[in-house]
Amino acid sequence: MRIRILGSAAGGGVPQWNCRCRNCEAARAESGDVRPRTQSSIAVSADGQSWFLLNVSPDIHRQILAFPPLRPPPGRDRGQSIAGCVLTDAELDHTAGLLLLREGTSFSIYSTPLVRRWLNRHLPIEPLLAKFAGPRWIELSLDDPCHLRDGLIVRAFEVEPHVPRFVDEASECRGSVVGLSILDPATGGKLVYAPCVGALAEPLLAMAAEADAVLLDGTFWSNDEPLQFGGRTALEMGHVPVSGPDGSLAWLTELPTKRRVYVHINNTNPMLNERGPEYRLVTSRGVSVGQDGNTFEL
Ligand code: MLT
Ligand code: MN
Ligand code: ZN
Repeated sequence: MRIRILGSAAGGGVPQWNCRCRNCEAARAESGDVRPRTQSSIAVSADGQSWFLLNVSPDIHRQILAFPPLRPPPGRDRGQSIAGCVLTDAELDHTAGLLLLREGTSFSIYSTPLVRRWLNRHLPIEPLLAKFAGPRWIELSLDDPCHLRDGLIVRAFEVEPHVPRFVDEASECRGSVVGLSILDPATGGKLVYAPCVGALAEPLLAMAAEADAVLLDGTFWSNDEPLQFGGRTALEMGHVPVSGPDGSLAWLTELPTKRRVYVHINNTNPMLNERGPEYRLVTSRGVSVGQDGNTFEL
């Protein structure tokens, strides 16, 4: 299985258009301390020809340009290498890019029934796209593995429930946020992708322990970090912070999984500065701060 980090930043990217935090200013200055990053999405493929996007960010146009395997396949005037999209949640940074794929002819969208319902009610992506590409919407079951067209097997598992800011109902939350475990039966390679993690709990812990690679929520360094621009803490926003005794770095440090990478990193997170102590601490634990363009095989 080939894996490409298309975008490693959280919503807003790095730099974020309306932000003058230290990281955003450093990214604008192109000093190399903080690399620019696009919004959260990865691509996976069993054969390198047919690709599945895991989340589709509003930066998908740029991300496709930067990764030649996602271009139209050679030999035809039009065509697409993107066979489908798998959504972990309904957040805008993970779904707004679907509208930018409307010129496609056919692809599948996999999501939980709740994510599909929220998207239909609040940003009618499905009826809009039905008039263009007409993608097939396929249920991402929390009980059974899902076989993607190219042979990869996806297992969706619940992480801490979280309701997006644009949803004003607080009833049923099953399937609001999932992690994905993706197996390539041909190689045995297993990836866990969990860009939104509100609590370090089962089944994530066991899934990650038996994976070959884990791409994990690295949104905020500390719980108070988002209070500098909003009214909610990291945990209230559905993101376990990286640092601290209960943070994700302490857990990842002990995890036997060979490749451990932070993704969905917010522009305020100090670990983005490659000359800073936070970056050094993370990397000294064998954990990577994900970058756009990271590509590997399992
Ligand atoms: C999140 O990851 O917490 C959301 O994407 C925040 C947002 O609305 O951008
Ligand atoms: Mn997000
Ligand atoms: Zn910023």
